[in-house]
Amino acid sequence: MEEIPGDAPDETHETVDRLHPLLARRWSPRVFDPAHELTEADVDLLLEAARWAPSAGNSQPWAFHAARRGTPEHAALVPLLAGSSAPWASTASLLLVNLCHELVEDTDWEYSEFSRYDLGQAVAHLTIQGEAMGLACRQFRAFDRDAITALLDVPEHWSVLTMAAVGRPAPEAERGPRASTRTTQVTWPREDDR
Ligand SMILES: Cc1cc2nc3c(=O)[nH]c(=O)nc-3n(C[C@H](O)[C@H](O)[C@H](O)COP(=O)(O)O)c2cc1C
Repeated sequence: MEEIPGDAPDETHETVDRLHPLLARRWSPRVFDPAHELTEADVDLLLEAARWAPSAGNSQPWAFHAARRGTPEHAALVPLLAGSSAPWASTASLLLVNLCHELVEDTDWEYSEFSRYDLGQAVAHLTIQGEAMGLACRQFRAFDRDAITALLDVPEHWSVLTMAAVGRPAPEAERGPRASTRTTQVTWPREDDR
C-alpha cells in the first residue's frame, strides 16, 4: 500500500492500532497536490467501488458526475464551489458531484427510505478504494447546489447532495485537530459492566 502524506493515525484511541490501515490513516485533506493527475481508468476504479456498495433492496440510489482537473467539465464546476472550498477543492485531481435518487419519477413517492444513507455508503466505499490507491478524498457541502443542479440538468426526482475532492494530498497537508479527534459515543454492554 502506498503511503500518503500526513497519514498519522489517531493515537488518542486505544484500538486504532488494530484498525485496518486503510481506515486508520484515512483523513480529509484541505491541500491537494495541484500537479497530480488521475487517469480515466483510476476514475473508473473509484466509481466501481461506489457501484459495488450495498443498498436497501439493491436500489443503488446514486449517481456521480466526475470531472478531472483540466477538463471542460471541471472548469464548469470550479466557479460553483463556495469560497470556503474553492481554494483546496479546485486543485484536487478530481471533483465528484454525488447525486441521490430521491423520488419515483413524476411522483412525490420516496424512491427508497434509505437513499441518502446508501449514497453516503457508496461514497465511503469510494473513499476507501481511493485510500488503497494512495489517494485522499474530502467530501463537502460547500458549493452552490442550485447552480450545479442547473448545470447538470438534474431531473426533479434526483438531488445533488454532496461533492468530493479526490487527489494526492500535498506534502504540506496536515491532519487538523478536528480530523484527529473522535467522540466515543459508540457503546455496547461489556462483560465487566454486567
Ligand atoms: C457530508 C459531509 C459534508 C462535508 N462538508 C464539508 C464542507 O463543506 N467543507 C469542508 O471543509 N469539509 C466538509 N466535510 C469534511 C469533514 O469536515 C471531515 O470529514 C471531518 O472534519 C472529519 O475529518 P476527517 O475526514 O479528516 O477524519 C464534509 C464531510 C461530509 C461527510
